[in-house]
This record gives sequence, C-alpha cells and structure tokens, in this order.
Amino acid sequence: MCGIVGYIGHREAYPIILKGLKRLEYRGYDSAGIALYDGTDIKLSKTKGKVADLEERLEKEISTTGTLGIGHTRWATHGVPNDVNSHPHYSNSGDLVIIHNGIIENYESLKKELIKRGYTFKSDTDTEVLVNLIEDVKKKEKTKLGKAVQIALNQVVGAYAIAVFDKNKPNEIVVARLGSPLAIGIGEDEFFIASDASPFIEYTKNAIYLEDEEMAVVRRHKGIKIRKIKDDSLVAPYIQELQLNLEQIEKGGYEHFMLKEIYEQPSAILDTFRGRLLSNEAIIKMAGVEDNMKKFLNANRIIIVACGTSWHAGLVAEYIFEDLARIPVEVEYASEFRYRNPIINENDVVIAISQSGETADTLAAIKLAKSKGAFVFGVCNVVGSSIARESDAGAYTHAGPEIGVASTKAFTTQITVLSLIALRLARAKGTISSSDYRTHLLELELIPGKVKTALESDAYVKTVADIYKDAKNFLYLGRGYNFPVALEGALKLKEISYIHAEGYPAAEMKHGPIALIDENMPIVVIATKKGHYEKVVSNIQEIKSRSGKIIGIVTVGDKQVKELADHVIEVPETIESLTPLLTTIPLQLLSYHIALMLGKNVDQPRNLAKAVTVE
Ligand code: AGP
Ligand code: GLU
Repeated sequence: MCGIVGYIGHREAYPIILKGLKRLEYRGYDSAGIALYDGTDIKLSKTKGKVADLEERLEKEISTTGTLGIGHTRWATHGVPNDVNSHPHYSNSGDLVIIHNGIIENYESLKKELIKRGYTFKSDTDTEVLVNLIEDVKKKEKTKLGKAVQIALNQVVGAYAIAVFDKNKPNEIVVARLGSPLAIGIGEDEFFIASDASPFIEYTKNAIYLEDEEMAVVRRHKGIKIRKIKDDSLVAPYIQELQLNLEQIEKGGYEHFMLKEIYEQPSAILDTFRGRLLSNEAIIKMAGVEDNMKKFLNANRIIIVACGTSWHAGLVAEYIFEDLARIPVEVEYASEFRYRNPIINENDVVIAISQSGETADTLAAIKLAKSKGAFVFGVCNVVGSSIARESDAGAYTHAGPEIGVASTKAFTTQITVLSLIALRLARAKGTISSSDYRTHLLELELIPGKVKTALESDAYVKTVADIYKDAKNFLYLGRGYNFPVALEGALKLKEISYIHAEGYPAAEMKHGPIALIDENMPIVVIATKKGHYEKVVSNIQEIKSRSGKIIGIVTVGDKQVKELADHVIEVPETIESLTPLLTTIPLQLLSYHIALMLGKNVDQPRNLAKAVTVE
C-alpha cells in the first residue's frame, strides 16, 4: 500500500513532500517519514502515526532545508507500525536511503544472505533488506547507484515502487516499479516522484507513468533516463498531459472527503455517461465496447472479478446483464478466483471492476484470465492505473479522484458504466425492445437529478443516525437489484463506524438471521416500489412481529411501508434496474453520520487503506 513522494529541483523539498504525503494518506496512514539532503548530509525523521504527527515531530527534530528529498506514508505489511519500521530506511553505511511501496516476497532468504555477509537490521521490514541488498551490490560490483538498483531488483521477487538516493551522489534519485504505481512529474528543471499525480498537480501537468519492470534515474539539471530492469534496454519517455486539477483533490468546503464524494454523485454520474449516452439518437457510444462487440456477443459468459464495494457493483451488474442482455454472468471475489483453478478460456469475457485500478487481487485475477486466453475488459476510475493498462479494453468511470477510504461515488459510477454496457449489448443482441431501450436511456439521463433529490434526505437521515448510533448490530435487507445495495450499506457502516452489520437478501432472513431480531436491532430494509415490493412488505411484517426497529428506504409517496416502519427515507421513483443508484444514497449518508457521531475518522478508518495493493 503506502504513498511515496520525492522531489529534486530548485525549490525547498520539504513543503512539497509534506503536502504530497497528506494527499497520499488515502493509501496508508499508520506511519510516515521524510529524508532530506541538506547540502552536506541526509536528515531523516519518521514516526508511527499520521503525516500530521510527522510534521509536528520532524520540525522539532531536523532542519527542513534541502532541494532533494523523499517521503513515505505507510500501510504496514512487514513489521508492526512503529517508529523503527517506518520509512525511509537507511542502508548499513548510512549512505543510501529508500522508500518503498509493495512487498519483497523473498526478503527472508535475501536477509539471511546479507546477515552472513555482516549486515545488521534495525527494522522488521522487507524494505530495509532491499536497501542493503542495493548497497551490497553497489560495493561488490563497484558500480553506480542506478546499476546497483537494477542488479538488486533482478534478484527480488515481489512488488515495488521505490525511490532511493545516495548521499554521496546528491544530484539523483533512482526510482523503479513493478506492480505498484509510480509517476514522475516533469517541471522546469525540477522533478517530482509520487504514487499518483496528486502531490505535484499544482506544479506541472506533464507526467511519465513508469511501466512495470521499468526504472529511471532522475538527475538534477540533466533529466530522466528510463530503462527496462530486466534487459537494460533504454525506453523512450512517454510524457502525458494530466487532466487532473487541484479542486478535484481538495475538500471544497466539505468537512470530509467522504461527504464531498457523496454529494459529487450527481455530477460524477453525469460525467460517467457524458458523451456516451446520446438519448436523442437512442445511441450508446463506448469505443471499448464497440471495438470488441464480437467478443461480447460471442461470449459464453461474463465473469466479473472485483473486491469490496466494486464486487457489490459487480453483483448489481450481474442482475443487469442477465436481465437485459441475457448473457450468463458469474461474479467472483478476485482473491478467490485467482487461487481456485477456475475453468476459463478464450470464449469468456472477464470484466474487472476497480476504483483504484491497483487492487492486487483484481490485478492478479485478470493476469490469470489473460493467461487462459480470456478477453479482459476493465472498469476503472483511476486513469492509467495498473488494471486499466493490463486490460485488453475498458471504460473509465470518470468519477474524479475518490479520496475517502469508504467508496461512494465509485460505486454509483461503476453501476452507471455497467448499465451502459449492458444496454448496448442488449440492443445489439435484440434482447430489449426499442421502446424499453429508449425508456432506459431517458431514465438514466434523469438519474443525476434524482440523486440530487435523494440527497435532500440528508437532514432526516441524520436524525435517524442519532437514534441508532449506539446500536451494536445492524441488519440490511434488500431483494433483487437491491440485495447488493444491502451488502454495500452494511459494508459502509462496518468500515467507518466499526458497528457490526450484515447485508442479506430480504427473503433469506427467515433462514437464520431472523434469530438476531429483537427490540434493539435496527434493520434497514430497501423497499422501493419497483422490485418485489409486496414480498419485501411481507418481510417487514415478519420483522415487526419480532419487535425489530425498521428503517425503510422507500419510493416517494409510499404508504404501506410507512405504516409499518419506524422511519422511512424516501428516494425518487425510477426503473427497477436503476434503483440501486438512488437507494445507495441514504445508506451512505447513514453510515457517514453514525461514524461522525461516534467520533470515528470517517476518511481514514482504522486498519484500512484506499487501495489494497497487497494480497
Ligand atoms: C469500500 O468502501 C472499500 N474501502 C473497499 O471495499 C474497496 O471497494 C475495495 O478495496 C476494492 O477497491 P478497488 O475498487 O479500488 O479495486
Ligand atoms: N512492505 C513495506 C513495509 O511493510 C511497504 C508496505 C506497503 O507498501 O504496503 O513497510
């Protein structure tokens, strides 16, 4: 996981690195550290805790001068989060200093070798092994840092994005990547290094994204040389112009990123279908789908691989694809799929869904699918991310940066993209009538406005949150298209408020979970008019008979559920397949308010990180 930042140029490095680390905290936040070269020596400060803790400590501990530096915000994989295990890590001589995002899988055997050769280790990390391996190679081969990094990385198994410098060569930073992202921002006689472009967006719009198995030597005044780690061949730098802007990565007046992102959903959904949905002409235009129409239409089945919230979006997609396009769909946890010897071949289409595009399990699942000949289609949010690049084709969600660890707008925009794809395929296959197709397109166009209306329930949701914030358990129930929404509502509550919550298909309740119901159990039931309404009303009756507290998510104007439920939260009416885009909204708000009332860190819940780049 972890966020890494580096700078070399004519400005003071410290403020750039510090601000950059704050922007990357979504990637991990259990410890942080910065190393600066002040003109004569390396000055390093690191600590367990957040970047704000580092700031407080560092400014007392070291001088902040220097125009070269590296910084790290950690999500521990090897060694508990403490001061010593925090990055950056020195080599034994104290000449080299490194930051690392990823895992060196063979670190134990490398460490044993190094210990035999007299090296000692202060931390439990795999990273400290790597920096000493580089030092060892450098000494043995009497070579420059760049070459030493290359030789060392050829002995390493695992994943990494690293930045390392040598205090005796303070005019260069060596970086490399395999499996973890690394971007290099190119300014006027200055260079920025980061896990994504957000730390340098106000300084430059020009960036190079290193590919897997590439490394670069970034030299002050001289520029960048990129090479393949394996065969040493030179790579011509491909400089991209970034579309990201500063407002997109700041809170814009909201108290938390999560709230900002919840409220961004009307515009995010609009951005998702902008230019793709031409309702006047009744056309859906998606190049990734058009160019590969045959693959989709000839597919035996679609296999969706994803994790967490993205997996929930996949479940919604299963309903949509099967319902509208009549294509068999299987939805798999990427982490299970990759290890269970799945039957898969060139007649399968795999759709990988991932906000970050960096989730290790999803990435591994698509690599496996590709190796078996399947066609892989990526639905990612982060442009240029590993999954987006690894896929054969794909469609971005265009939701803009999602910083809050709890996924919100990623979910609704994923459903939007997947709905567009399903509708396009349904049209091509003739499994949807032209009038139904038109109705779907027109209705999808109305969704941003309806999400806005759904957001108006915020104040009422807050009063409901206040009533139930001290509950120890929650149940979430839904049927059909809204079953995955129940799962998603429960996940949102769990991850930011730490209240135990379960999502269930409403009818499945009577096969077990019903035993949990008593007068202390709040049960959120999604009971919109479209979608087995009468059946869900019966389930609500069953809960009421056992004194459970019912929070109904209902269609505006509903009367029946209102009579039974303790509280109802209304959402606008829409066609059944699009209801998840509306019913999700109050569930997001409910978890947000409860977490806030309980004093939890909404944007950075404990133990989690935004992008899970380890398996
Ligand atoms: C959701 O709120 C999560 N924090 C998490 O489940 C997330 O959806 C999952 O880790 C997958 O991430 P991705 O979409 O970036 O692949
Ligand atoms: N493996 C390194 C550590 O534990 C980096 C962690 C990561 O990138 O998740 O410190």
